[in-house]
Amino acid sequence: MRLRAMVAAGAMALALAGCGRMPGAPRTEYVPPDKVTDFATLYNTNCRACHGPNGQNGPAMDLGNPEYQALVDDATLRNIIANGMPGTQMPAWAQSAGGMLTDAQVDALVTGMRKEWAKPNAFQGATPPPFAPAADEKGNVQSGKQLYQAQCASCHQGQSRQQVTSPVYLALMSDQALRSIIVAGRPDIGQPDWRHDSGQALTPQNVTDIVAYLGSLRNPDAVSAAPQQNPSRR
Ligand code: HEC
Ligand code: HEC
Repeated sequence: MRLRAMVAAGAMALALAGCGRMPGAPRTEYVPPDKVTDFATLYNTNCRACHGPNGQNGPAMDLGNPEYQALVDDATLRNIIANGMPGTQMPAWAQSAGGMLTDAQVDALVTGMRKEWAKPNAFQGATPPPFAPAADEKGNVQSGKQLYQAQCASCHQGQSRQQVTSPVYLALMSDQALRSIIVAGRPDIGQPDWRHDSGQALTPQNVTDIVAYLGSLRNPDAVSAAPQQNPSRR
């Protein structure tokens, strides 16, 4: 359902963007698309359909969340925008990766987001689990399942809520996308950050375990669906 909503929202926003200048609107000097470096123009043209006006209330991650902006460093942000986010619907934007934006435009998006959406002391002195797990940190599926039941299920079992354990939902959410949302929250739609309401903040290992558990539900058939050594066995 959410996938459909995302596609519909995207199509609508693209259609609106395509309408161009309203009659009577002031004429501005023509800037070739690859020379545009104004943040609002770049964001509204390329990102807003999925990430929402001002980085909020879109079908995808709220980039306008100051906690997200504080969690992700410049190099990572630039890399995600340039190369996309495999395992999700986030496309690659850099020309070097087959997208439409120049390196200067990717930089302008990073700088613009920081200027518009980052806030000093976004975590009020608290230290969140890092953007990505430590290289040697392994997730424990069993522990993740227990944590999910204790910390997430109460809010997510109702029909009206996103079924985050559904393989259909998880098929379009990479581990990193889940992690970013669990740590930074989505204040625009009511998802708490890692500190949660229960007063029991998630540790870095807790987050890695929950993501491992959700990852294990993503595609239970992954093993049997993997390319076979011997095609005749199919
Ligand atoms: C077709 C929809 C779509 C468009 C257009 C799009 N994104 Fe995304 N983006 C996604 C999805 C889906 C994710 C994965 C996370 C999610 O679903 O919340 C994502 C993730 C991201 C992330 C990483 C969030 C994280 O989890 O750490 C960044 C940063 C980002 N997008 C920036 C941009 C920027 C900047 C643009 C415009 C140049 C853009 N996106 C355009 C769909 C889109
Ligand atoms: C206090 C209630 C509450 C708790 C606790 C909670 N969530 Fe959520 N979560 C929400 C709400 C509200 C949304 C917005 C979408 C919806 O209504 O389902 C949401 C959205 C999400 C999303 C994004 C869905 C999307 O739009 O793509 C993910 C992923 C998610 N939650 C995972 C979790 C995980 C994992 C936990 C446990 C660590 C958790 N949530 C705990 C209320 C909660």
